[in-house]
Amino acid sequence: MTVKPTFPDATPVALETAELAFLADVRDGLSRPQKALSPKYFYDAAGSALFEAITRLPEYYPTRTEIGILDRSGPEMAALLPAKAALVEFGSGSTAKLRRLLRHLDKLAAYVPVDVSGEFLRAQAETLSGDFPHLRVEPVVADFTRDFDLPETLSGMPRAGFFPGSTIGNFEPAEAEDLLRRFGRILGVGAHMIVGVDLVKDAATLENAYDDAQGVTAAFNLNLLTRINRELAGRFDLDSFAHRAVFNADASRIEMHLVARDAQAVRVGSDTFAFEAGETIHTESSYKYTVETFRALAERAGWTWLQVWTDPEGLFSVHALRQD
Ligand code: TRP
Repeated sequence: MTVKPTFPDATPVALETAELAFLADVRDGLSRPQKALSPKYFYDAAGSALFEAITRLPEYYPTRTEIGILDRSGPEMAALLPAKAALVEFGSGSTAKLRRLLRHLDKLAAYVPVDVSGEFLRAQAETLSGDFPHLRVEPVVADFTRDFDLPETLSGMPRAGFFPGSTIGNFEPAEAEDLLRRFGRILGVGAHMIVGVDLVKDAATLENAYDDAQGVTAAFNLNLLTRINRELAGRFDLDSFAHRAVFNADASRIEMHLVARDAQAVRVGSDTFAFEAGETIHTESSYKYTVETFRALAERAGWTWLQVWTDPEGLFSVHALRQD
């Protein structure tokens, strides 16, 4: 095995607390037999902009398909939810999907976006209030993968959770189940949930959705290495890594990897990580469900499954659940 020389010295830098946590995660992930990096580090400013671009790609069918389902079946969804409810969105991304649902929810008492980024929430709340002046917006800054309390002001209101974008698919199935159980605890008995879930389909359609012709998804994946270089004094040579998306049919998931084009050693801070030619870093999984496998997961998490809506081609699904 030939090993490219490492950069002789990585400049020592003083790291902030957030960067120390990032460094600890990178160290841990790159020390495993199957190297891995956490997808939570995708979303710096550049990553968030690239993700927005992904949602508009011709190959990336989930976003427009889910919006189509919300447009077409929104009135049925609204009919299922109680009047004067508080709608809690877990991890509020762009407001595009919420707006589709809001159109049909004229009797909503409050909208509660939950996100780790307070800055993002503030901006989002402002534009929404501009467009829906009568809507009460109560943002909550929280990590929805941990327990948190809803604002006191919502007590007594019926609750509905909204979790679009097949974000549920980015969790391992056991974690997805824990997450739905947690949502049940946060929302309380009697609550409803509207969840968007991408469906299993042929490998080519799936792989193209995560490996587009323009290379936007590749740039999104490689941005993780750019971040490590910038924030953690990393020395990844971006030209030495390639983006790969494969459908693992046994596990029913798309796996995104960064593949080392040749053998090399990469310095990050004071550590050096060796790569064999073709060795990969697993950066994210996107699990694909059938209507039945998702229904079973929701039921294991303590929810009553009510209904599903799909598009005519059966690409994507939106499920309604209730906690009895
Ligand atoms: N949850 C969506 C999905 O898995 C969106 C998403 C998350 C995504 N991470 C991604 C899309 C990485 C493309 C690449 O499809």
